[in-house]
Amino acid sequence: MSVADTRAVQALLDWYRAMGVDEAVGEEPVDCFAAAAPKPAARPAPEVKMAARPPRIAPGAATPASTRGIGAKVSTLTELEALVAGFEGCSLRRTAKSLCFARGSAEARIMLIGEAPGRDEDLQGKPFVGRAGQLLDRMLAAIGLSEQHVYITNTVYWRPPGNRTPTPEEIEACAPFLARQIELLSPSVLVLLGGAAAKTILGVSEGIMRLRGKWLTYACAGRDLPTLATLHPAYLLRNSAAKRYAWRDLLMLKAALDSEIRGQ
Ligand code: URA
Repeated sequence: MSVADTRAVQALLDWYRAMGVDEAVGEEPVDCFAAAAPKPAARPAPEVKMAARPPRIAPGAATPASTRGIGAKVSTLTELEALVAGFEGCSLRRTAKSLCFARGSAEARIMLIGEAPGRDEDLQGKPFVGRAGQLLDRMLAAIGLSEQHVYITNTVYWRPPGNRTPTPEEIEACAPFLARQIELLSPSVLVLLGGAAAKTILGVSEGIMRLRGKWLTYACAGRDLPTLATLHPAYLLRNSAAKRYAWRDLLMLKAALDSEIRGQ
């Protein structure tokens, strides 16, 4: 077995451990890599240009007057966070304890976007710090990524009461800030966690099972940002069988990042 094979097997075993797999079932081994083998493309080649029409989050006619012109107002993520902290136009902030703007590194090449903060996030003022966040961290660790490599946020910055789904109006109110957040971070890759984030960012109505597992694009500041939609960690906590799809998506992400490093 080559060194690369050994590493791949080790990564898979780490992934199993992270997913809570502690028992072998079945007599015959299954070659998971046969199904998951990433395409040999040197670059993350977008397969489908989903963002040909403007994504819903692009600031436009539907943008509330109070959030127009954010681009002109702020030129750093810190300034943007301060702007969001003073923003009164999203009703969620009235019931939430804290603003959950972002977690991770402002230098990250990988930006992940989830749906909405939950109870733990509201208590700590950071996205993805509860059970779903811990699973997300283990998933990222399985492909060698830690908090210093990623920047994580949500489609809305405050916890919806009782963890309900954010309304289209709440998402719309936060959208111009999120668009500017993506622009300011300017990552190499965008990862959309779950159907809500995928639909919001890509401006499409397809379900996550149709959107996941292929390179899409998000139009950002005059360039097509390679974008990968995958299953939400909270969904994976409830549906263990779906973890194999998340693993395939993570391998695609890893292959894209590796090829980018090789191409530098
Ligand atoms: N689920 C999300 O979508 N975001 C969080 O921050 C936590 C859980």
